[in-house]
Amino acid sequence: MSAEQTLAQIAKEVAVCTKCALHESRKKAVAGDGPADAEIMFIGEGPGFHENEQGKPFVGASGKFLDQLLAQAELTREDVFICNVVKCRPPSNRDPQQDELEACDSYLQAQIEAINPSIIVTLGRISMSKFFGNVKISAVHGQMQKVGERFVIPMFHPAAALHQPPLKPSILADFAKLPNQLNEARHALGRKAVKKKESNSQKLEKPKQMSLF
Ligand code: URA
Ligand code: SF4
Repeated sequence: MSAEQTLAQIAKEVAVCTKCALHESRKKAVAGDGPADAEIMFIGEGPGFHENEQGKPFVGASGKFLDQLLAQAELTREDVFICNVVKCRPPSNRDPQQDELEACDSYLQAQIEAINPSIIVTLGRISMSKFFGNVKISAVHGQMQKVGERFVIPMFHPAAALHQPPLKPSILADFAKLPNQLNEARHALGRKAVKKKESNSQKLEKPKQMSLF
């Protein structure tokens, strides 16, 4: 199976999954979104109100801010894969519980394996703890570390920065470091940059080639 097919299969399973209690209150599961060959994968916490309605990650207020942060990193949504540690919305946006995190982990691990990104960016404390255990996010945010066969960078959650304005310059600065960190990661892993796909707007702008005959 290609990586793309694997991701589609995971999304299909997640849509009807009943492995934890979060399925009881979900409207739409949110498997994740983005190209299967993404060099960077973002892992948030869990779907919120709007994500649960639309079945897509980071489409509410945090998502708007994430778009701004991606722009800081010279990236767009089309370049990256975005998902969450739990695929169904915790009621009232409470933290996911340990048993829910464990139940959903196999989907996340399968996504990481299929995409095989050079860099994983964790958004927030819960996603960070998957890779770093109980460290303080205020002490390690923005610092890229090798974890197994790739690099992981813990970042503040965009929602945290929205609620605590003093964090905003810090998260913007962390995202601005990403292009250099990506080059560093590519170099260390001996990987070449993945060619960006032409966006639809670029395709439309391209003039038709004139026939000479
Ligand atoms: N917050 C998250 O952690 N994930 C989303 O998809 C939306 C908001
Ligand atoms: Fe299944 Fe994960 Fe949804 Fe729980 S949160 S029901 S494990 S997809």
